[in-house]
Amino acid sequence: MSQPPLSFNPAGIELDRRQGLSLQLYQALRQRVLDGRLSSGTRLPASRDLALALTISRNSVVRAYDQLYAEGFIESRVGDGTYVAQLPQRLSPANVLSTKLSTGFSTGLSPGLSTNAVDLPGFSSSKVIHSSALERLDRHYLPAPASGAPKAFRVGVPAFDLFPFEVWAKLNAAFWRNPDLEQLCYGDPAGDMRLREMIAAYLRNSRGLQCRAEQIVITSGAQQGISLCAQLLVEPGAGVAVENPGYRAAGHAFAIAGARLHGVAVDSEGLDCAALARLSDCRLAYVTPSHQYPTGVIMSLARRLELLAWAERSGGWIVEDDYDGEYRFSGAPLAPLAALDRQGRVLYVGTFGKVAFPALRLGYLVLPPTLVDAFSRRRALDVRHSEVSTQAVMAEFIAAGHFQRHIRRMRRAALSRRNALLAGWPADIPGVANLPSVAAGLHVMVRVQSLAREQELLAQAARVGVEINGLSSYCLGDGPPQHAGLVLGFAAVPEAAIADALARLRRAWR
Ligand SMILES: Cc1ncc(COP(=O)(O)O)c(C=O)c1O
Repeated sequence: MSQPPLSFNPAGIELDRRQGLSLQLYQALRQRVLDGRLSSGTRLPASRDLALALTISRNSVVRAYDQLYAEGFIESRVGDGTYVAQLPQRLSPANVLSTKLSTGFSTGLSPGLSTNAVDLPGFSSSKVIHSSALERLDRHYLPAPASGAPKAFRVGVPAFDLFPFEVWAKLNAAFWRNPDLEQLCYGDPAGDMRLREMIAAYLRNSRGLQCRAEQIVITSGAQQGISLCAQLLVEPGAGVAVENPGYRAAGHAFAIAGARLHGVAVDSEGLDCAALARLSDCRLAYVTPSHQYPTGVIMSLARRLELLAWAERSGGWIVEDDYDGEYRFSGAPLAPLAALDRQGRVLYVGTFGKVAFPALRLGYLVLPPTLVDAFSRRRALDVRHSEVSTQAVMAEFIAAGHFQRHIRRMRRAALSRRNALLAGWPADIPGVANLPSVAAGLHVMVRVQSLAREQELLAQAARVGVEINGLSSYCLGDGPPQHAGLVLGFAAVPEAAIADALARLRRAWR
């Protein structure tokens, strides 16, 4: 006979009525799942009953449940209510996550910090290639991303036509009209303290990432954050796992630092952690768990726990690239992997490029505390620190509330542009799968039956002036690409331009 489900007693949940109730309830329930007080299979009360028990609105409970559901902490069984998600016993959060907060762990860095001298292994995971620095650069030369005026369906570009340039210009003028002379001298290589404080507060509020300003290092966009991780954490010859298909510029940054790259497959739950565990030389994994680039898969909770367990077991590092986490079309952004990390194994990479515009070149790392000094020192050697006015203006932009307003505007715009793409997408194109639902991000990936067909569709699109990326170009390895598909960015241009491009595509693909 099957066991009756455990049921949950809400006694002990105390909510402060002056603060957001759904967020507090979400946090309280999440914490109970993580520390084992709520175990897998426990039945949660119906939203109406929990609302009554806590004397809050049913909407607050529904919002908290929605977020927990999206992050994989709970699951609903049709006609049977809501339960704490079933995870394999070995992966129950209480087993995987230490309840200690990360403070005094080893950095794993060699005392001299890896500066990757002359001869480095190359891209292939199977052979070691010795080459001069210039040859290495040639080998890892990556064509620049598409430039020029944004057009449909450029990937990686937000709706920056909506950026409040006037506000930015005013704040910029105000900074330069009366600059604080102290700020014009050499500054902290980790970045402007006020901006670091603003970012930490933003991440605590929007992502539930409990970090302090001192853990943040300002970078020139996500790419430099990834590159610093490569320079500091990769010993020449060491294995690095990257998602396959995945963000090639990250792979190149690790390879040029001397890594042996291993492309690890991505399935419907994210990175294949069993395959990762079989890579005995691998101590670093680069992942995009909130919205895998480019497939759009959201990493399941079970995989997140498996990945964290791998890092803890192997003394490895996880570089989490949350490049477009602001764009979730229902509910709040998902809590990142870094918010689950209790061992200080996750380095979180963020960027302003997808909310403001890419050319701003402003991003940040959130680091385990003991890595901050090494990263700052490395940054000081590279560039001393980022240019002062952009940092100061961004700090003021956030402090004055413009940033949050702008994120809301950008999310609405991306949603509306996504809808324009979904509404006008030509159905029944031979060899092309249906468009998947798109719950997050700035792009969508649709599978195509063969590489030849992918290339044909791309060429036809290019002939009518429509920019589309081939999924095959995101595949790693020396052999023929294992995946074929179309990757379309939907945020770069307004709805009318999307409709116009779709009309051209329909003609080209008829
Ligand atoms: C997955 C991913 N990470 C990072 C970046 C780069 O961000 P940034 O412009 O801040 O370097 C991109 C850009 O498209 C991206 O797709």
